[in-house]
Amino acid sequence: MSQNNLPRTAKRLADYTAPAFSISHVDLCCELDAEATRVTSVLQIKRNLADVALKLDGQQLTLISVAIDGRLLGAADYQLDAESLTIFTVAQQCELTIICDIAPQHNTALEGLYMAGDTYCTQCEAEGFRRISYFPDRPDVLAEYKVTIKADAKRYPYLLSNGNKISEHIDDQGLRVVQWHDPFPKPCYLFALVAGDFDVLTDEFVTQSGRKVSLQLFVDKGAITKGSFALESLKRAMQWDEQRYGLEYDLDIYMVVAVDFFNMGAMENKGLNIFNSKYVLADAASATDRDYFNIESIIGHEYFHNWTGNRVTCRDWFQLSLKEGLTVFRDQEFSADMGSATLCRIDAVKLIRTAQFAEDASPMAHPIRPEQVLEMNNFYTVTVYDKGAEVIRMLQTLLGRDTFAKGLALYLQRHDGQAATCDDFLQAMQDVAAQDLSQFRLWYSQSGTPLLTATQHYDATRSQLVVSLTQQTPPTTEQTDKQPLLIPVQIELLYKGKASQRHLLLLNEIEQQYLFEGITEAPVVVWLEHFSAPVKLSAQYTDDDLLFIASQATDGVARWDAMQQFWSRKIAQQVAEGATGVVLPPALFKLLQHWLEQPGSDKAMTAELLTLPDFDTLAEQYQLIPVDSLLSCLNQFKQLLAEQLAASFSNCYNALKIGPYQYQDQDVGVRRLRAVCLNYLAQLNNYQSLLHAHYANSDNMTDTMAALTAAQQSENEVFSQLINDFGKRWQHDALVMDKCFALVASQSGEQVFEEIDTMLMHPLFSWKNPNRVRALFSAFSLRNPQQFHRADGKGYQLLADTVLRLDPLNPQVAARLVTPLLSWRRFDTDRQQQMRAALQQIAGQSNISNDVYEKVSRSLN
Ligand code: TRP
Ligand code: ZN
Repeated sequence: MSQNNLPRTAKRLADYTAPAFSISHVDLCCELDAEATRVTSVLQIKRNLADVALKLDGQQLTLISVAIDGRLLGAADYQLDAESLTIFTVAQQCELTIICDIAPQHNTALEGLYMAGDTYCTQCEAEGFRRISYFPDRPDVLAEYKVTIKADAKRYPYLLSNGNKISEHIDDQGLRVVQWHDPFPKPCYLFALVAGDFDVLTDEFVTQSGRKVSLQLFVDKGAITKGSFALESLKRAMQWDEQRYGLEYDLDIYMVVAVDFFNMGAMENKGLNIFNSKYVLADAASATDRDYFNIESIIGHEYFHNWTGNRVTCRDWFQLSLKEGLTVFRDQEFSADMGSATLCRIDAVKLIRTAQFAEDASPMAHPIRPEQVLEMNNFYTVTVYDKGAEVIRMLQTLLGRDTFAKGLALYLQRHDGQAATCDDFLQAMQDVAAQDLSQFRLWYSQSGTPLLTATQHYDATRSQLVVSLTQQTPPTTEQTDKQPLLIPVQIELLYKGKASQRHLLLLNEIEQQYLFEGITEAPVVVWLEHFSAPVKLSAQYTDDDLLFIASQATDGVARWDAMQQFWSRKIAQQVAEGATGVVLPPALFKLLQHWLEQPGSDKAMTAELLTLPDFDTLAEQYQLIPVDSLLSCLNQFKQLLAEQLAASFSNCYNALKIGPYQYQDQDVGVRRLRAVCLNYLAQLNNYQSLLHAHYANSDNMTDTMAALTAAQQSENEVFSQLINDFGKRWQHDALVMDKCFALVASQSGEQVFEEIDTMLMHPLFSWKNPNRVRALFSAFSLRNPQQFHRADGKGYQLLADTVLRLDPLNPQVAARLVTPLLSWRRFDTDRQQQMRAALQQIAGQSNISNDVYEKVSRSLN
């Protein structure tokens, strides 16, 4: 039973029916007040089916009145419950006026209209509009919006909504009254309203057809200098979408607002993006290279939604990947073009191999187009977003870049102004490609991570190479039977003495063989070059093969991947063999030394080659995760490398020189490689002063964080000295304090519990702010395996307590936090018991939200 004692019933994709009513126009008036905002909504309604009542969604609304065509309805004319308003008799066509009150001040869930400090703002995706007014809160009801906002003129100089501003005046009561009109019909999840006082950065973009677009970025007073990178990123994104896909912006104004309280990264509301300030504000002193990268990519992401999401939206929420997978793919391509394509790809691959593979192996496994949903917020996942993007990428690989671009153009043209499905998208692709995509469609309906097994046989007498591939997708919790998928397997045949060859293999059966003739020398086969499919791979590589690929492959991702595979295997061997110790080949040290001595022009690439796989990546190789031995082997290898290569790390570090901070590819690479060297050296006692020096000499947050992270991993005195200084220095900057909180919470020593408690008392910590909560507790549960997975269960208990504390305030964020506990079946019996106890404690609470309930119950069942 839920809070309202309604049964918790999931919705199903299979039950979709078209809306019984359409709404052509929405005229919304919001009279802002923290305790009682009055929302008057005038809807032009048309009935599509005979004899049906009009059922509108609504939550936590105080209904004041309902009228049809000016006639006030009485209590007998409608029925009201905690989730809906049903009006029994509605003419074929009519005007419906609904007045209700809401209390943004008390909205801690940050869905609907809420307050971020003194700023009013909205978040309506997925189902937040129902907390603003009674409405058919589903993405396939598209209407044209006119919005009037009224608020105290002095305190709220800026009253914003979607589209174009059509009027502004101050009325006789001193209220500012602003009217907006959005000419593009949209679903209510794209509605937005903002009211506040800001610093504003303005600029202009001229589209390829010569239209002028006014750009406006709204940030907290005093933060204006931190907004320019975001604004520049926006212009780059606008230009990129024109050049790559011929897509132009369509309104005369594009606004971006940064707010401090936000559940996710950002939101693509038509003409009025709302951003988590973490993904807007940056300067050298307070933001890292990674922060800059994220800002550019998320600014791009939300901008790209203007076509893939807004002009063409989703028919229902099961189709979420239609806009998200596609838009992540687009933002990845954008980032690749703006900086290092290889590095972008490596980041994307890491995310798939850690979080996405883990999700596919968890009780929350779902296809990129889920079939059953209790709380939609729970399906904004790495599977829908990032595996979704991989599926789009495979499509591009299969069809080729040009055909793919034509398919996208056809899809957008065919469905402009409509709510579409994933099938519509695939149909457009199929139509331009004249290729049957029916087997490819399975990627949308089948969950789980396919395992590819690759073998090869070289016949010297016939000059033939035969390679074989098999695929097998293990059952997932919600889906047992799996079918063979169409998998593009990009390969490179590498030779010792001659030029390599690249081929695209299409695997569409359980097992397939491919014959290559005229092969005069046995090649080393690079499988899944550029991670051409989101799958696991098992191949028979020797150590030498992997090191050969790592130094010779054309694709940088393949080189990095070979090193990752090398380490994963060595660590796995060590785990299996225990303390006996695995011998590392001399060739390895030669190669590492070579990279350190001649790091080449792409320093970031070199940094990646020198980095060991992290705990999460290693863990995904196991059904049952050997936490303790994995952690200790990982440490042993790191220590060993530090000892064996100390001089090389130190020389490399010293040879890398860099001027004043600039966010620029070359410099990013230098900082990254220096950070990797520092990280290894921090393992050794005689390099502790280097940590102090790196910290003291830093003129930017990237280097400061490099010093802190290195010091933290070496578990020594230096860390407490540096983190104390850091915490004091930045005690007034919440976004930087988040970095401090995260560093504190990810310390591997057991003092972490006490120190987290101390941080909870920090003046800037607030349970109501998702960034703060995540900084402490996601860092703890995701980046501190040592303490989170303590055998005594103290880590699990801390997370369970946190989830229960947060759930009444912000269920969406609480449900995200609970994730690491769900996979309890993958740990040893003692840990299983402890994790399950933590989950049961959560499940045992009365009134837990649907968000948390859905995940916990799926995991315990
Ligand atoms: N559509 C947003 C994006 O990916 C995601 C988002 C922002 C969101 N805020 C949300 C999803 C709140 C669910 C709830 O760009
Ligand atoms: Zn998105």
